[in-house]
Amino acid sequence: MKFFLDTANLDEIRAGAALGIVDGITTNPSLVAKEGKDFKTLVAQICEIIPGPVSAEVVSTECDSMVKEARELAEIAPNIIVKLPTIPEGVKALKICASEGIKTNLTLIFQPLQALIVAKVGATFCSPFLGRLDDIGHDGMLLIEEIRTIYDNYGFQTEILAASLRHPLHVVQAAKAGADIGTMPYDVFKKMLNHPLTDIGLERFLADWNKAKK
Ligand code: G3P
Repeated sequence: MKFFLDTANLDEIRAGAALGIVDGITTNPSLVAKEGKDFKTLVAQICEIIPGPVSAEVVSTECDSMVKEARELAEIAPNIIVKLPTIPEGVKALKICASEGIKTNLTLIFQPLQALIVAKVGATFCSPFLGRLDDIGHDGMLLIEEIRTIYDNYGFQTEILAASLRHPLHVVQAAKAGADIGTMPYDVFKKMLNHPLTDIGLERFLADWNKAKK
């Protein structure tokens, strides 16, 4: 499973990159707006820090304008992935982007048929939002399992990018369900390596070691 950071914050991205296990970045208009910076400049900076896929989302909702935005975003860096909303106009834009070799991430996926459609049309990534389904009492993880089965049945190459992961257990469950990628906030990312017993165990090992050396 690849790990992506779901943030547009440069400090978080640098800190994650320093650990050497960040494979890519996802952003969305809400995350970018929080940073209060020029969108394209910020995305270019992110692409310099992280060589892997960096998702940048269009904000138009009509096919022609989406494609125009997509072409501009794709110019920023070779590792840009254009994020398109999974609405009918977004699917039309996806078809054009795919024909032009622009890599895409179809976002806001909440049911398996949306994932099937975007794979058929040629999406590079599909982003099911697990946490937001859990929020309304649905089983977000079931969606990943269903998409995995459908993609494997037909040999689709579209990668399943599990998004809206809210805690480390979501990451574990998405990995078990066969998601290709998990994208998570920095806070969740930091928690993935932690266990209190690891800290206690290390403390004891070092205390014993130092005692014996006296
Ligand atoms: O990648 C999608 C993510 O940003 C949505 O997460 O927690 O706002 O549902 P959340």
